[in-house]
Amino acid sequence: MEMPKLFIPGPTEVPDEVRLAMAQPVIGHRTKDMTELYGGIVEKLQKLFNTNHYVMVITSSGTGVMEGTVRNLVNRTVLHGACGAFGKRWYQISQANGKEADLVWADWGKAVKPDMIAEKIVKGKYELVAVTHNETSTGVRNPTDEIAKIAHENDALVAIDAVSSLGGDMIDVNKYDVVVSSSQKAFALPPGLAFAIVSEAAMEKTKSVEGRGYYFDFVTLLKRYEKNKQHPTTPAVSLLYALDVQLDRMLKEGMQARYERHVKMMKIVQEWAKKRGFALFAEEGYRSVTVTTVENTLGISVKELNDELVKRGMRISNGYGDLKEKTFRIAHMGELTPADIRGLLGEIDEILEAKGVY
Ligand SMILES: Cc1ncc(COP(=O)(O)O)c(C=O)c1O
Repeated sequence: MEMPKLFIPGPTEVPDEVRLAMAQPVIGHRTKDMTELYGGIVEKLQKLFNTNHYVMVITSSGTGVMEGTVRNLVNRTVLHGACGAFGKRWYQISQANGKEADLVWADWGKAVKPDMIAEKIVKGKYELVAVTHNETSTGVRNPTDEIAKIAHENDALVAIDAVSSLGGDMIDVNKYDVVVSSSQKAFALPPGLAFAIVSEAAMEKTKSVEGRGYYFDFVTLLKRYEKNKQHPTTPAVSLLYALDVQLDRMLKEGMQARYERHVKMMKIVQEWAKKRGFALFAEEGYRSVTVTTVENTLGISVKELNDELVKRGMRISNGYGDLKEKTFRIAHMGELTPADIRGLLGEIDEILEAKGVY
């Protein structure tokens, strides 16, 4: 069956070569083959992101590692910087794990600014500052480099949620203690794998944290990796095959070129939206490179538009939660190209012109 091409902010389109890699025979997870596969994957990830930080690939969605980060790095206190649904989720995760969590909240469509964090942070009070890098619900990209600097100056570790940006946007992972991501967005893989890129300082801290749990315990994960480049539990072997092939593709394109392709697609969508009389929901200067949230200033039915698009073999996203129908989201991440984006926008124009919207 022909499925609509995905212009939604995850899961994204998976290239055939990557999908087919999953059809290889499953291997035992305690074999030399696994050592080679997973060891190679970690090396490729370090190369792609230009880092010597520890890299862990865990069978989970990104939320698991968001929870794992809090459990590994926080005995008591954490400061969250949030500006949308996923930032709020991380704050709720900390609360659900019994941590003393404080929140710096920027309104929907606005970014968490460094001075907001600077105002709230107290030297030595917070063990961790946790901020969303790319808020998928609003299309906001937070200035996390500056926030990381403030966190470190105040003796806190810093973790970012780069679930919808790592692998598409350019992120210097070396500036952070934990970078969280997952497979189904800018990596253009199926859902099911999550990434934790962890600094030496974070690994040091985690050893002194109690109640780290079992599945996401960074100490156990790293110990097993260092023993023979394997996992403590059975990993999703087939997804690791896909990741391995996709990493070769990503390295071949190069992270800089990949980022530039994403910027190009972002500009096409932003210019199109403004030209047609829509507004951009995220504040200027803080707009996502991987997903654009368009404010529905023309009052179209987003649902009807999407239904029509699906008939034409494409799918976009309605607004998230309360932003449904007030906004819609066009993802430009993963393996999509400027030509794909122009094709999508051409179809949207045809549909909206036929409805007399413009
Ligand atoms: C910014 C952000 N953080 C976290 C998540 C949750 O990730 P997962 O669905 O992989 O658990 C998402 C998913 O859309 C996201 O966009």
